[in-house]
Amino acid sequence: MSRQMIVGNWKMNGTCQAAQALVAGLVGRLPQDSAEVVICPPFTQLASVADQLVGSFIGLGAQDCHQAASGAYTGDISAPMLADLGVSHVILGHSERRQGHAELDETVREKAVAAIHAGLTPIICVGETAEQRDANQHEDVLGWQIEGSLPAGFSGVLAYEPIWAIGAGRAATEEQIAQTMAFLRAELLRQFGEAGKAVKILYGGSVNAGNAPSILSIPEVAGALVGGASLDADAFLSIVGAAS
Ligand code: G3H
Repeated sequence: MSRQMIVGNWKMNGTCQAAQALVAGLVGRLPQDSAEVVICPPFTQLASVADQLVGSFIGLGAQDCHQAASGAYTGDISAPMLADLGVSHVILGHSERRQGHAELDETVREKAVAAIHAGLTPIICVGETAEQRDANQHEDVLGWQIEGSLPAGFSGVLAYEPIWAIGAGRAATEEQIAQTMAFLRAELLRQFGEAGKAVKILYGGSVNAGNAPSILSIPEVAGALVGGASLDADAFLSIVGAAS
């Protein structure tokens, strides 16, 4: 089995100075054989963090990109611009963008195509609301999100983030994660055939140093997408240490 992957999504937090301090707390403290680690600072911190990561084992990700390579899109950042900074991964379709920026599955898919074209690895997020889970509609919702958001032949990273577990301080249960992971893998195979085997599936939603060992040992969990706990170097390193 390939190494697990731990992705830190810093969301809209920090200054360049704070980012430098956080990265300084990570660089040099990761063993060479650790899990694959990617940190995703806000756009404004990418250039300075990229410089700081030179020679480290930590990859650099962004939190979004535009679907066009360039043009009249005020305030947006394109995938080639990210690649130009040394970014290797990009989170796409996070629920905070789907909800806060009205991003549709189709837009997420176009962004993924643009990212792949620029040489980036997309980390595409899917997840159901609490209401959808309570109504037992989560598998339908996740199936539709996969069908709409993932480009044909996708071999990047899929992150399962139940919206109700994000920032909640309480992750989904091991049983919920295991059942949903098995469903997602089956759905990937159904929709993409053999290509579906190559997709890594991460879990995200209130992962912390305490629950990481049990979450990361669930079959099919190829790693974690970590929000709040990735802003604390010690907590993030503990999560990385729990990965295989
Ligand atoms: O992208 C990360 C997720 O939204 C999880 O955030 O770990 O703060 O719950 P959280």
